[in-house]
Amino acid sequence: MIQKPKGTYDVYQEKGRKILYLENIIASLMEYYNIDYVRTPIFEASELFHRGVGETTDIVSKETYDFLDRGNRNMTLRPENTAGVVRSYIENKMYGEANQPIKTWYYGPMYRYERPQSGRFREFYQFGVEIFGSNDPALDAEIISIPVNFYKLLGLKGIKVNINSLGDSESRENYRQALLNYFKPHLNCLCEDCQRRYEKNPLRILDCKFDANLDIIKKAPRILDYLNETSKNHFLNVQKYLKAMNIDFEINPNIVRGLDYYTHTVFEVEADIKGFGSQNVLCGGGRYNNLVENIGGPSTPGVGFALGLERLLSALEFENIKLIEEKSLDLYVIPMSENEKEYASSITNGLRMSGFKIDIDYMNRNIKSNFKQSERLNAKFIAIIGEEEINNNYLTIKNNKTKQEYKVKIEEIIDFLDEHLDHDDDCNCGHHE
Ligand code: HAM
Repeated sequence: MIQKPKGTYDVYQEKGRKILYLENIIASLMEYYNIDYVRTPIFEASELFHRGVGETTDIVSKETYDFLDRGNRNMTLRPENTAGVVRSYIENKMYGEANQPIKTWYYGPMYRYERPQSGRFREFYQFGVEIFGSNDPALDAEIISIPVNFYKLLGLKGIKVNINSLGDSESRENYRQALLNYFKPHLNCLCEDCQRRYEKNPLRILDCKFDANLDIIKKAPRILDYLNETSKNHFLNVQKYLKAMNIDFEINPNIVRGLDYYTHTVFEVEADIKGFGSQNVLCGGGRYNNLVENIGGPSTPGVGFALGLERLLSALEFENIKLIEEKSLDLYVIPMSENEKEYASSITNGLRMSGFKIDIDYMNRNIKSNFKQSERLNAKFIAIIGEEEINNNYLTIKNNKTKQEYKVKIEEIIDFLDEHLDHDDDCNCGHHE
């Protein structure tokens, strides 16, 4: 049997409903922040990610899905969406628009050829935000507030915000020098990858999954000691605005992030949930003031984040948050025989267009198993249609909870359902206001 590719998963039934529910919440939350939807292609020229995410990152050097298209162009399935959104910002000349800053959000699949393990997939979904055109530290704090508010809105309690600063170019250069000096006498203790990183980008050594527990890594110089005045001020202001918004955070100097484009603020949100496991980073992001220029646009500051949907779903499961109500129907229609099916279709179609949730028996069940099916579907009412009903222009409608039966004239069905769904149950079909 053909199976799904390693590191991917199918979505169906309850999980599908949960995901659609989350997507709706995301879209409406974004309206509250005045952030516009953006969608970019799932594949882009490979060069975009080399220049954007960085050659020395694990993501680009080991994890991309690359292919030659039929025109011999090097293409890559996007491992993340910041680079793609920046490309789109430049290509569509959004920097020239009057309504700065440009605020965008996206949701969609990303691809990384990682070793599949709990919380890590090869195809995974991210919801993210990218904002261009302002270097205001209040915006860094606003970006951090989005995932925090989203998680709170969903009822997650065990969340922890870690922040750090990587400073501006000058601070980073000073820090780079400090790392080069520090690691020089220890080079042969480091893995081969890190020896290469030493030459190209020593900051990446701090992010190595292989060497992470070495003492020399733990005792390496800290970026916060190398921030210049401008960078220190920026970082202090971000903290001021986070406090103003009542967002708890911790400064964690170990956060360097696995992508090269960051300057100033970087942050991660962790699930501080017992037993959640090591893949507990729910979300990450930060400021990237040089990326637009590096990809070929005018010098423009940017800041953003992305959160993984899969890790969010498992955090919700760990905290026992159900998210969605049990599925239900307003009415389940049972035609007694083949002769009543046309009539049933006509009535069902009309009622659906009037805003009721309805299904019909398509399996020609006998009446007893149809009652069972109506319970499985959590139908509030059942409509039985037989010869007698058609000849006399009414339906036999049964309340599935109270078992009370009604004979309702065809032209009165909408009023009947409106009234009884309101009275008999907590109806949320949206058309009774
Ligand atoms: P990232 O930290 O690589 O950042 O990914 C963000 C989030 O995506 C992670 O915190 C995690 O929840 C989820 N994620 C990443 N890889 C996987 C995976 N293999 N399986 C499941 N979930 C995963 C970025 O992608 C940046 N573009 C974030 C950003 C936006 N920074 C600025 N703007």
